[in-house]
Amino acid sequence: MKGWLQRVAVRLTVALHVTGVAAGAGTAKHAYQFNSVAITGGGYITGIVGHPTEKNLLYARTDIGSTYRWEQQANKWIPLTDFIGPEDENLLGTESVAMDPTDPNRLYLAQGRYLTSNQTAFFVSEDRGATFDTYPAPFAMGANELGRNNGERLAVNPFNPKELWMGTRNAGLMKSGDRAQTWSNMTSFPDAAANGIGITFVIFDPENEGTVYVGACVPGGLYRTTDGGETWESLPGQPTEWDSSLLVYPNETQPQSTAPQPMKAALASNGALYVTYADAPGPWGVSYGGVRVYNTISSKWTDITPTADNTSPAPYTPQAFPAGGYCGLSVSMDDPNTVVVVSLDRDPGPALDSMYLSRDGGRTWKDVSQLSTPPGSGGYWGHPIAEAALANGTRVDWLSFNWGPQWGGYGAPSPVKGLAKFGWWMTAVLIDPQNPDHVMYATGATIWSTDTISHADNDTAPSWYVQAQGIEETVALAMISPRSGPANLFSGVGDINGFRHDDLGAPQPMLGLPLFSNLNTLDWAGQTPSVIVRGGPCGHEYEDGCGNAAYSTNTGTDWVKFATCIPGVNTSSTNPGVITVDASGKHVVWTSAMNVLSPTLQAVTPPANDSGPYASHDWGKTWISPRGLTVQTSHLSADRIQPKTFYALNEGVWYISTDAGLSYKAYKAKDTGLPADAAADPIVSFERAGEIWLALGSKGVYHTTNFGRRWKCITQKGTVAERLTVGAKAPKKKTPALFIRGHPGRSQKTPHGVYRSDDNGASWERVDDDSHRYGGFNLIQGDPRVHGRVYLGTGGRGIVYADIAPGRPAKQGNVPGTMGI
Ligand SMILES: *[C@@H]1O[C@H](CO)[C@@H](O)[C@H](O)[C@H]1NC(C)=O
Ligand SMILES: *[C@@H]1O[C@H](CO)[C@@H](O)[C@H](O)[C@H]1NC(C)=O
Ligand SMILES: *[C@@H]1O[C@H](CO)[C@@H](O)[C@H](O)[C@H]1NC(C)=O
Ligand SMILES: *[C@@H]1O[C@H](CO)[C@@H](O)[C@H](O)[C@H]1NC(C)=O
Ligand SMILES: *[C@@H]1O[C@H](CO)[C@@H](O)[C@H](O)[C@H]1NC(C)=O
Ligand SMILES: *[C@@H]1O[C@H](CO)[C@@H](O)[C@H](O)[C@H]1NC(C)=O
Ligand SMILES: *[C@@H]1O[C@H](CO)[C@@H](O)[C@H](O)[C@H]1NC(C)=O
Repeated sequence: MKGWLQRVAVRLTVALHVTGVAAGAGTAKHAYQFNSVAITGGGYITGIVGHPTEKNLLYARTDIGSTYRWEQQANKWIPLTDFIGPEDENLLGTESVAMDPTDPNRLYLAQGRYLTSNQTAFFVSEDRGATFDTYPAPFAMGANELGRNNGERLAVNPFNPKELWMGTRNAGLMKSGDRAQTWSNMTSFPDAAANGIGITFVIFDPENEGTVYVGACVPGGLYRTTDGGETWESLPGQPTEWDSSLLVYPNETQPQSTAPQPMKAALASNGALYVTYADAPGPWGVSYGGVRVYNTISSKWTDITPTADNTSPAPYTPQAFPAGGYCGLSVSMDDPNTVVVVSLDRDPGPALDSMYLSRDGGRTWKDVSQLSTPPGSGGYWGHPIAEAALANGTRVDWLSFNWGPQWGGYGAPSPVKGLAKFGWWMTAVLIDPQNPDHVMYATGATIWSTDTISHADNDTAPSWYVQAQGIEETVALAMISPRSGPANLFSGVGDINGFRHDDLGAPQPMLGLPLFSNLNTLDWAGQTPSVIVRGGPCGHEYEDGCGNAAYSTNTGTDWVKFATCIPGVNTSSTNPGVITVDASGKHVVWTSAMNVLSPTLQAVTPPANDSGPYASHDWGKTWISPRGLTVQTSHLSADRIQPKTFYALNEGVWYISTDAGLSYKAYKAKDTGLPADAAADPIVSFERAGEIWLALGSKGVYHTTNFGRRWKCITQKGTVAERLTVGAKAPKKKTPALFIRGHPGRSQKTPHGVYRSDDNGASWERVDDDSHRYGGFNLIQGDPRVHGRVYLGTGGRGIVYADIAPGRPAKQGNVPGTMGI
């Protein structure tokens, strides 16, 4: 204890000095510019659609990251809805996209992530998504629910483009006569299929006015009207039972539905209606399915499922069983007999899901996945890792997932070293309407593209590249910005581990083994920034250490597993708690308490409080239960200057350890100047020992310069500080820049957002604005090297960084988003 008390005396004088400077100084207003930290993809892309007449007009919808437009000139996808604020977070998911076939400028988005939310809306644009009018929707949507992989539920009537129809999940078939502003129930539709999946596609016949095909994801769920919805018929001859020859092993998994359920459909120019089928809505859990085509002129059905008899190369044996279903489907605009379909959930392999191409309306197929895979892969279809690059050569190396040992089923690594998995959840596929040799398909993580699909006709491999640039769909879970080293940012994200961002503008390799399915906690050693620790859930049991946490002593180039995990964290943990490393980089403290970023995204299981956070001085060979702190708390940090010093704040008690986490001294919050119920992560200075800030919600920001013995509120009344971070100080300033998520003071002029203070909380200027909101920020992180910069971690739009816009006067406002949006 002695050491830190001495430092207290020194810091008190410094603090007075600092306050003196801050008072008269103020925070300069700057214009900001916003850019994505390039990860490239990173989430499930649920649909890709192309305009029937306008070249290169493509949209990609995603389950939790809304919709993007392809911008040929910029060679990337452009996000369209970054104006969505945190209060509307549920709108950051697209249930369906509809284009107006008669007017390429018109775009309709049906927005809403979860059925449990009633926050749903239609976004209506007359300029391809540059601007939108938004109208609340009178029914629930589920862009991140089961069945999100299926067809477009929303469609524009080509004969009366003011009219839209929407197949809903629970409310039946709806119709709008005023461009999605108001809706009425088409009660004539025979099967509302109100099972949470509902109606999964609406297809207007562009040749025959009044004829519309509608599919509900139930057995026999395919319907047609020829009188604009007055009357309906169940399409005669559609499958009403499973083909018993599919059920090779009656002792095995049986279909989950009584008959095939339509997933997607496409109407070809010759009147052929192609339909993919499965026994469950997907994208996971599908076991059986098939592909059929209905000749709408002759009323004849044909089973065109790819089989051993009609497919080349021949299916790999032993085939996976059950063989999965079908969902992904696209028909060429210029040739009604050119069609691709993709199997769904033929997993775990071998043989995994395949894309099939037919030139004869489905009579015969080429297995494109198999043709694209180098020989010897044993049925695990994949792209040679060299193909994991944008067309211009920029590598997207993380698609290898470092060939980690976990995720045997869905998802990521190919079990074959050297291959990036061909894909999973490949439910969005598009033959480019204007360029039929260009085929794109999406996976749970990216978009693959070829300009030479016709190579498959000659039994040779099309060449593939990644076409996901601009799509940033990750959920940020952890960020650090060390003072020095090769990268200003390390990130942990949902589903795809994390990254060291040596170049913020280019996708980086994934952090090395062990891989985590999420990376929830990161820290760096204040005086030895080459030491980094990280933790995350890992479904794999390693023989040689703890799969849920690792450390690096060379700034994240190589990683070593901790010898053991702490009690309460193991392969079944969904969240590893919080790991911190002291300033020297030798002492680690790890708590199993969760860092809860978003209660809507995370279910919280309270940790077992059999001990305080565990300490280790030998990289986890032994974990020591401390004295003086007896509960697991997630509000834990290490001082970045003074070694062996850790802080915790739990239920109104401030704790400090100066012996590397072996023991803690406790102070009642109210005896230190803190509110009695104070609870927040201690945000430590990267420059001064014992200097810490707390974001205490509606109580504002508290600050200490003496290790938490005395705290002072540094913000004016009415300030709400939900999160806080520190970054490099402004020129001529003595205190680091502070950033809060919340709002400073009570005035109407300070709406909720991200604010910067250059004078330790006395004055604040807004960083974000009404068009740069990204559905809200889970996390904010300052940069000790770049004044004004803040990394903004979103819940579905990846990581954005905001920089002071050089040479742009503040009065001009922030730089508009990409392409002026
Ligand atoms: C490749 O394309 C990406 C995405 O448009 C771009 O960010 C990058 O600068 C390009 N690289 C080169 C070498 O042109
Ligand atoms: C919609 O959500 C709001 C906020 O959660 C709630 O107050 C309201 O009752 C909900 N309305 C319906 C119809 O569920
Ligand atoms: C719409 O009409 C269908 C058929 O009558 C009915 O099943 C469904 O519940 C209705 N939807 C709403 C929201 O009332
Ligand atoms: C079902 O029968 C097949 C063929 O005899 C056999 O290979 C398979 O292991 C059996 N499955 C189960 C779950 O018993
Ligand atoms: C396929 O092979 C034929 C005959 O060798 C050739 O004429 C044709 O150009 C090839 N097509 C493609 C797309 O490579
Ligand atoms: C894993 O940890 C949980 C507590 O988080 C505990 O209930 C469970 O028994 C542990 N499992 C193993 C295999 O140790
Ligand atoms: C452990 O302590 C924390 C903080 O005091 C509390 O939130 C949590 O509920 C406790 N866990 C259990 C299992 O009681």
